[in-house]
Amino acid sequence: MSIRARQLLISILVGIFFVQTWLVYSDPIGTRHTLSKLAIEGQAIWRESNCQSCHQLFGFGGFLGPDLTNTIDSLSPGRVDSVLTVGSGQMPPFHLAPEEQSALVAFLREISTTGVSQPKLGEAVLPAELLRQLVETGTALPVEVARGWELARTHDCISCHLPNKESLHLASDLTMLATSLERDKLFEVLHDGIPGKAMPRLALGPADCAAVHAFLIWMNEGGEQIRKRFEQVTNSGELELSKVPWFEFE
Ligand code: HEC
Ligand code: HEC
Repeated sequence: MSIRARQLLISILVGIFFVQTWLVYSDPIGTRHTLSKLAIEGQAIWRESNCQSCHQLFGFGGFLGPDLTNTIDSLSPGRVDSVLTVGSGQMPPFHLAPEEQSALVAFLREISTTGVSQPKLGEAVLPAELLRQLVETGTALPVEVARGWELARTHDCISCHLPNKESLHLASDLTMLATSLERDKLFEVLHDGIPGKAMPRLALGPADCAAVHAFLIWMNEGGEQIRKRFEQVTNSGELELSKVPWFEFE
């Protein structure tokens, strides 16, 4: 190879090196995301609290807890609040203040917009959705029961209490709640929650408590069919609790 050809080759290689460096560090197609100030605070709390030791983001992290990349929008504020204060199952209590919680939520929400991590569940039905299909069959519920069901859905009782003995987060069987406590005690729990446990403080007034109570009695007595059907589907493999996203990847 002549000296000129060698010089030309070296200049081309050096040129390619600079173009490559520019492409890698300058983000010309604008895919880099910047976090808001609040989310950066959340990120700091995420790191200090070592959340990553149990949770993954984009599949990286520990496996005791679920991947949290794209899940924050599917969790009710009540669930997030209870998880980040008193904990849940093997998730330890962090007693985070409301401002710290908002920062963490902002962090998780902004991370979620940067990409998709978790494979979706395919055709499997989620437990709360199955329960909805079984309760809302088209036949009208008694008025008070319907109101109680509505409240149970808006307050997300069924993200924790399901009509079976292995409800998530160690919560009791939904069909047994009506009989597990005296009426007054039940109203107290629905107002104050159970301090130190995952049962959140919902501050339900007496009228709402009465409606929820009516729904729980209906689930206990008239919900026989629902309980059976729920059990059938759970055992049939159409609904696999172990495949619910907060537990593991598919
Ligand atoms: C020791 C392990 C561990 C640590 C540390 C931990 N978690 Fe968890 N986390 C879990 C487990 C296990 C669950 C599932 C709990 C359950 O099944 O009720 C969970 C659940 C959650 C959930 C609810 C997910 C859902 O789908 O319901 C959120 C949100 C969460 N953790 C956020 C955090 C944040 C934020 C931190 C750091 C401040 C953190 N976790 C630290 C183990 C941990
Ligand atoms: C974040 C999860 C969660 C949500 C949401 C939730 N609960 Fe609970 N609840 C629990 C757990 C866990 C317990 C058991 C606490 C314990 O260990 O004593 C419990 C206990 C109870 C109890 C006490 C009786 C018993 O057998 O344990 C009642 C009644 C109850 N829940 C009703 C409800 C109703 C009604 C709703 C919705 C309006 C609701 N809960 C929402 C988690 C939850």
